[in-house]
Amino acid sequence: MTDAAWTAFDAAADRDREACILDQFAADPERLSRMTLEAAGLWLDLSKQSWTRKAFEACLGLARSANVERARGQLFGGDAINFTEGRAVLHPALRAGPGGNFVALGEPVSDEVDTVRRAMADYANAVREGRETGATGKAFKAIVHVGIGGSDLGPRLVWDALRPLDPAIDVRFVANIDPRDMAEALTGLDPETTLVIVVSKTFTTQETLANADLAKAWLAKTLPEAGREKHIIGVTAAPERAEGFGCGRTFAFRDWVGGRYSLWSAVSLSCVIGLGPEVFGRMLEGAWAMDEHFLSAPLERNAPVLMALAQVWNVDGLKRRARTVAPYAHGLRRLPAFLQQLEMESNGKRVRRDGSPATRGTCPLVFGEPGTNGQHAFFQQIHQGPEVVPAEFVVVRRTQGDAVEAPPESPLWANALAQGQALMQGKTTEAARAELSGLDPAEADRLAAHKTFPGNRPSTTIVMEALTPEALGALIALYEHKTFVEGVIWDINSFDQWGVELGKVLAKAILKDVEAGRPSEELDPSTADLLARLIG
Ligand code: F6P
Repeated sequence: MTDAAWTAFDAAADRDREACILDQFAADPERLSRMTLEAAGLWLDLSKQSWTRKAFEACLGLARSANVERARGQLFGGDAINFTEGRAVLHPALRAGPGGNFVALGEPVSDEVDTVRRAMADYANAVREGRETGATGKAFKAIVHVGIGGSDLGPRLVWDALRPLDPAIDVRFVANIDPRDMAEALTGLDPETTLVIVVSKTFTTQETLANADLAKAWLAKTLPEAGREKHIIGVTAAPERAEGFGCGRTFAFRDWVGGRYSLWSAVSLSCVIGLGPEVFGRMLEGAWAMDEHFLSAPLERNAPVLMALAQVWNVDGLKRRARTVAPYAHGLRRLPAFLQQLEMESNGKRVRRDGSPATRGTCPLVFGEPGTNGQHAFFQQIHQGPEVVPAEFVVVRRTQGDAVEAPPESPLWANALAQGQALMQGKTTEAARAELSGLDPAEADRLAAHKTFPGNRPSTTIVMEALTPEALGALIALYEHKTFVEGVIWDINSFDQWGVELGKVLAKAILKDVEAGRPSEELDPSTADLLARLIG
C-alpha cells in the first residue's frame, strides 16, 4: 500500500465530505451503471453511498495500491495468510465443485474435502430415511446442535433461512452456557429420537463442552448404554478429543477453516441432515459462483471489493464508526448476528500486520434487525440521530409466505426502498413547515424542527429474487470476501481473534475463586466486590 493512495483518498474525503448524494446522479450520468452490478445472481446498488465519482476513484486507488488481487491469490492459493497462527484460510475450497485442486500450505486438500462431503451426504440421507437409527432402533426426529460462535451462527442462519415450515427433522440450537438454553432446546424432545451434534473446531470451548455434558446426561437418563453413542456426533478439527468425549461418530475439518468461515464444512451437518444434501449443495454452488465472480471481475466491477470500499470510505473517509444491516426477509433475521462475528471478530483489530498501531479505521460496529422490525426501533436514530450510520438493506423480491394467504406483491421490499430513499433525500424544515400550515405559526415552527430529516445519509441495497439456497450462499460469500478485502486495505490479519482470549483466561481464574468460596487477593476492588456478592 502506498501512502500516495491514502493521500489521494484523504484529499477526496476533505473535498467531498459534505457532497450531496442526490446531486451526484446529475453530476455523473453514469453513476447508476457505475455503482450498480450483478454478481452471482445478486443485484447490488451502491449508488446511494456518499461517494462522488472522484471519491469512488480514490477508493479504487486504495484497492489497487493494496494489491487486492495479489492478496486474493494468496487466499485462494492456500498461503499462510493467517500468519499469527501459521494457517492457510481456505474456506472457498469447501464450496468448489468435486475434483478441485486446492492446496493448503502446499498440501493438496480437495480430495479430503470431497470425501468428507460424501460421508456427510451419506450419513444425512441415512438419518433422513430412517436407516440410521438411535439406540432403541427408532428414527431420529430432532437434532440438538451444540456449538457457539462460528460453530453456531452460520448453521443457525442457514437453518432459519432455508428450513421447511414443518420440517421432518426439527433442528434446535444451543449456544449459551446458561442451562436455560439447553433446557428450552430439550423441552418436548424424546431422547430416543434425538441426535445431539456437538460442533467445536477446538473441542475445548467451555460453553460447548458444558452443554455437551448436559445433553449427554439427558440422553443417559433414559437410553440404554448400548448404542447410546449413536446419539452423539462430533464435528471438529480435533477428532481425537471428540472421540474421547464419547461421540459415536465424528466428522472432521481442518485448521485452515476459520471458525467464522466454517459453515461450508461439516459444521453445518445439522443443516445438511435437516435440509438435505441437495439443498446444502445448492448453497455451496451459490457461494462458489460468488468466489468465481470475486476471482475474475475487475476491481471496479467486483461486488465484494465495492462493498469493502464503501465501508472504508465511510469509516476512514467520513469517520462513520457504525453500520446497520437490515435484511428484509424473516428468514434472514440472524444475518446481523452472523455479520457481527464475521466482521467484528475478523477486523476488530488495532494493529497492522507488522504489529504497528493501525492508524486507519478498521472495523466499525455492526448491528441490525430484520426489516421492518428495525424501523420501529432504532431507525429513529438512523434518520435523525446526530451520528450518520450507513445502512445496508438486503431485499428479497419474492417473500416466503407459503403458509399464509399473503398478497403476491409483498409490501416488505417497498419498505426497504422507502428507507433508502428517506435516508438519502431527507425532509427540509421548509417542507415540514409546509405540512403544518394549518397550525398556529409559532407551533408550526416548533414542530417543523422535530419533523425535519437531515437526509444525505448513505445506504447500499442488495437484491435477490428469492431466498434460495444459491442466493443465500452467494450472499454469505459476498460478505466474507468483503471482510477479507477490508482487512487487506487496512493491512490487518482478518483471520485471528486474540481479542477473545484474555476473557477466557480470566473466567477460569474467577471460577477457581468461586470454588474456593472467596475472591483472590489479586482481584481489583470492583471485581472482588461483585464476586463476593455473587458467591453470596
Ligand atoms: O471465542 C471465539 C471463538 O474462538 C470463535 O472464533 C469460534 O468461532 C468460537 O470461539 C467457537 O470455537 P470452537 O468451534 O473451537 O468451539
